Amino acid sequence: MLAAILLLQIAAGLVESASHDYNIYHPMNEIEDWMNQILFDNPDIVSIERIGRTYEKKDINLFKIGERSGVMKKAIWMDCGIHAREWISPAFCQYFVKQILQEYRNGGEMAEIMRKLDFYVTPVLNVDGYRYSWVDNTTRLWRKSRSPGPPGCTCYGTDLNRNFNATWGTFGISTNCCSEVYCGTGPLSESEAAAVTRYVEQRKEDFLCFLTIHSYGQLILVPYGNPNFTAPNYDEMMEVGLGAAEKMKKVHGMSYEVGTSPDILYPNSGSSRDWARLTGIPLSFTIELRDNGTYGFELPQDQIQPTCEEAYSGVKHIVNYVHHKKVSGAGTMATASLWAVLLASCITTTTITL
Ligand SMILES: *[C@@H]1O[C@H](CO)[C@@H](O)[C@H](O)[C@H]1NC(C)=O
Ligand SMILES: *[C@@H]1O[C@H](CO)[C@@H](O)[C@H](O)[C@H]1NC(C)=O
Ligand SMILES: *[C@@H]1O[C@H](CO)[C@@H](O)[C@H](O)[C@H]1NC(C)=O
Ligand SMILES: *[C@@H]1O[C@H](CO)[C@@H](O)[C@H](O)[C@H]1NC(C)=O
Ligand SMILES: [Zn+2]
Repeated sequence: MLAAILLLQIAAGLVESASHDYNIYHPMNEIEDWMNQILFDNPDIVSIERIGRTYEKKDINLFKIGERSGVMKKAIWMDCGIHAREWISPAFCQYFVKQILQEYRNGGEMAEIMRKLDFYVTPVLNVDGYRYSWVDNTTRLWRKSRSPGPPGCTCYGTDLNRNFNATWGTFGISTNCCSEVYCGTGPLSESEAAAVTRYVEQRKEDFLCFLTIHSYGQLILVPYGNPNFTAPNYDEMMEVGLGAAEKMKKVHGMSYEVGTSPDILYPNSGSSRDWARLTGIPLSFTIELRDNGTYGFELPQDQIQPTCEEAYSGVKHIVNYVHHKKVSGAGTMATASLWAVLLASCITTTTITL
């Protein structure tokens, strides 16, 4: 009898460990366990790759999700948790992965999308910073990486979203290593930014869209953070972004503003969003999730689900656009020649466009 009860308890424990609560924030070790569980449950379409290591020598892992194919497929990038304290961001990556896998299993459009496109999802990019933000309530609002400052500066951490090679060190940064927006000693001085750059660069013609998830402010930001430069397809990105915001509003009535960072937030440089566009990825967006200031980075857990639901519908709009306009039907050749025309037309104008 006692043995039977014990067995039941063990069985219950196993079931519990296999079911992940998407409505709470998880520390890094639980996110790692969840990643392994997702891989274990979906070995046919999911793999995990280590793209690099953090300053503290922790692995930075991403999911590759899509139907296996003999040829290189087009792809969509998503990273979460580049800023440690923005806990809703990794929570969204977890929700997103769960949701696309579920929709894939149900057949329909997501199954079609995953035949043609792979998703590369990094649930936590700034692993060191995220772990640090979980240490106690004095470190909860940590933003940066955890590398020590240069000689003579005793503070820690570089703002990884100021460290990419995109008009590095010009706008919205500080060269003081104690600052929240310290940009590092040079472009890609930080191993986390270098890992993303190396990984994406090696097959950049396959990435059609780059999404980087932040909080807070309820914004969809398009390139560039440098007010002197305009992306050649600014109009296209605005149209896609506005379409996403419209879908998001329908879910829970929340408004998301769309524009470049200088237009609706502040100028900045060295962001991964800008770098992705500069390196040739046609669509690049930063999504700033809820809220718009009431709780800020400390978004209550009861808002995880509604935030993820609305963000998912916005991202789905972007994914559908990529699928319909850049992959299906007309094919990539037509897109490529359109691009050549767009680029050529920019070269002849006097404004600097990048
Ligand atoms: C940090 O947590 C401790 C213990 O739960 C609590 O007593 C303290 O008030 C908290 N401090 C802040 C700044 O939230
Ligand atoms: C940054 O980009 C510029 C211009 O494309 C290039 O010349 C330079 O080598 C890059 N720097 C790094 C660290 O990748
Ligand atoms: C870039 O923009 C800033 C602010 O808008 C302006 O002050 C600066 O002169 C511009 N630099 C160049 C090279 O155009
Ligand atoms: C914050 O978001 C809510 C919901 O979208 C909106 O009603 C409110 O006006 C926003 N507040 C600010 C200051 O933007
Ligand atoms: Zn951020």
